[in-house]
Amino acid sequence: MKIVAIDGSPHGEKGNTALLLNEFISGAREAGAEIEKVRVTSLRAETCCSRMVCWYRTPGVCVHEDDVTGLVDRMAGADVWVLSTPVHVGGMTQQMVRVMERTVRLLSPCYEVHNSRTRHVAAPYAPRKAVVLISTCGYYEEVAFAPLVSQVEDLSWSHHRRFAGALLRPHGLALRFMQANGIDVRSTLDAARTAGLELVRDGVMTEETLRAIRQPLMSQEDFVLMMNSAFERRMGCQAGRTPGCYAGEPEQASGL
Ligand SMILES: Cc1cc2nc3c(=O)[nH]c(=O)nc-3n(C[C@H](O)[C@H](O)[C@H](O)COP(=O)(O)O)c2cc1C
Repeated sequence: MKIVAIDGSPHGEKGNTALLLNEFISGAREAGAEIEKVRVTSLRAETCCSRMVCWYRTPGVCVHEDDVTGLVDRMAGADVWVLSTPVHVGGMTQQMVRVMERTVRLLSPCYEVHNSRTRHVAAPYAPRKAVVLISTCGYYEEVAFAPLVSQVEDLSWSHHRRFAGALLRPHGLALRFMQANGIDVRSTLDAARTAGLELVRDGVMTEETLRAIRQPLMSQEDFVLMMNSAFERRMGCQAGRTPGCYAGEPEQASGL
């Protein structure tokens, strides 16, 4: 099984999302997959100019000659695309969008109707070709992933690929914070590794494994307390300027 795994976080290896991605990759490698990992921050990547030259004038060939050109060629031949991106403004990062826009040249402009829905014609549907989403977000609740999951389901549909599922880690900010404070997050990371292994070995990731990745790491109340005290330490509490900080103004604090 050939996998192209794209790390779409501007933080790259230092990011929260990379924690899951790296575990997924080692599980998939252990099960025998051939994996290419690409970090968007290391790519020379032009933006799609939307003139559709790759559809009409030079079908299948992009006007740009940069690192994304070769990447998209390799994506076309890959059995699995692993799209790893933090949630930014509800969706994927702009660096990931930049890569995914360029995959439009793998499709024909002509429409077909499949299961009562229009989509562009592409290579014949190959059931083993799949897309996996890996993501972390800042908010506590899983609902923060809803627009991103829809977006990736939709692009899988457009590319005639099966959406194989998502490794989602809500309050992903807590992962490295907990690690730094000696709190064990191994069960989350082990589940990400199992997901990689399952996908390559069985072609599917079990719901039990995916649920283990997104299970709460702590209560919502503890998360807000932990993160706010960390944010306040970083910002420095400035009464009158830092929201929620009333140092030196006790009458205001007690009035709220
Ligand atoms: C520009 C920007 C936009 C963000 N938007 C959201 C958002 O809409 N919802 C959310 O839950 N988290 C949001 N976050 C938080 C990130 O998703 C979260 O910190 C994530 O774990 C970062 O992953 P990384 O370290 O791999 O980059 C945003 C972060 C940035 C920098």
